[in-house]
Amino acid sequence: MVRISGTQKKLGVALFLIIGVFSIMGAVRFFPTASNQGYAPEQPLPFSHKLHAGDQKIQCQYCHSDVEKSRHASIPPLNVCMNCHSVVKVDSPYIQKLRKAFSDGKPIEWVRVHELPDYVYFPHKRHVAQGVTCEACHGNVKEMARIEQKSALTMGWCMECHRGETTPPQVLAKIYPHVKNPRGPVASVTCNTCHN
Ligand code: HEC
Ligand code: HEC
Ligand code: HEC
Ligand code: HEC
Ligand code: HEC
Repeated sequence: MVRISGTQKKLGVALFLIIGVFSIMGAVRFFPTASNQGYAPEQPLPFSHKLHAGDQKIQCQYCHSDVEKSRHASIPPLNVCMNCHSVVKVDSPYIQKLRKAFSDGKPIEWVRVHELPDYVYFPHKRHVAQGVTCEACHGNVKEMARIEQKSALTMGWCMECHRGETTPPQVLAKIYPHVKNPRGPVASVTCNTCHN
């Protein structure tokens, strides 16, 4: 019988783990279904961006007030809704639910739609400051009755824009004001820009 020593066992386990990790990474890379593109979960209240941002023309920043100031865009607290819904449409059962949550001091548990893994750093502020519009990454939100993830949000998706390949023309023009047909790059693609 062949005897397996402790060291051989450890080596075996290490090799198994390394192969395992690389196959998972490979699977993530080659199956685009790992991306949540198209994800549009039902929300606890039928809040419509089409109605509020589209028909009513309420500015995105009125509700997502941190988007120019911080890494996160922020979801509005209920007092922002109550600016209108203390008087608007108060007979609606949805608005009654909203008002009850507000007076009980309980938040509405919105289902998160866009979510990068924890090991990725994404600052909203830097993008908005360079004129990248919400639509460039989130699609035509003003037409969405229910919010949907329009972009892949994969590493390749970030890289293509940073390299200048998919960058909106107005962003290229802003970053290269004196160049005739600017091509980029518009932002860094070194690993520690987004992973640190
Ligand atoms: C009246 C307030 C209001 C306005 C105006 C508004 N939003 Fe929102 N937004 C919300 C609320 C509440 C949610 C969470 C509920 C939901 O996902 O539908 C949300 C969710 C989102 C999400 C998804 C968040 C996630 O979980 O990933 C995006 C993206 C977004 N809004 C973008 C926009 C853009 C772009 C505009 C302007 C065109 C805009 N919003 C205007 C209130 C608002
Ligand atoms: C600037 C004013 C304003 C703000 C702020 C606002 N809404 Fe509204 N909301 C409206 C108007 C106007 C309507 C359409 C009323 C109608 O159909 O006559 C509406 C309709 C709705 C409806 C549909 C009600 C129904 O039964 O048809 C929901 C749900 C709703 N809002 C949720 C919210 C939530 C949640 C927030 C906060 C994130 C919010 N609203 C913030 C103005 C506002
Ligand atoms: C360069 C692409 C890009 C642009 C431009 C952009 N977003 Fe986002 N947005 C994202 C990504 C990526 C996430 C997921 C972030 C995460 O999980 O950390 C996100 C998440 C969100 C969320 C969920 C809450 C949060 O902060 O994670 C909201 C709300 C939102 N964006 C609104 C907006 C609004 C409003 C604008 C325009 C003023 C905007 N975004 C511009 C890519 C973008
Ligand atoms: C549509 C184009 C576009 C997309 C998509 C995009 N970016 Fe950017 N990114 C930019 C621009 C433009 C800048 C601003 C560079 C500057 O400030 O001069 C930037 C800057 C950054 C910065 C700051 C860079 C620095 O030097 O400090 C980080 C971090 C970043 N992006 C991460 C991401 C991540 C993560 C994603 C994908 C989830 C992403 N970006 C998707 C255009 C984009
Ligand atoms: C512009 C932003 C950005 C830069 C620069 C970047 N990454 Fe990423 N990376 C991401 C995002 C976003 C994800 C998550 C993508 C997903 O879930 O599909 C990711 C995921 C990963 C993963 C997880 C496995 C995978 O393939 O999904 C690894 C490993 C990784 N990055 C390594 C690197 C290395 C090495 C570099 C430098 C050559 C780098 N990244 C540069 C944005 C970036």
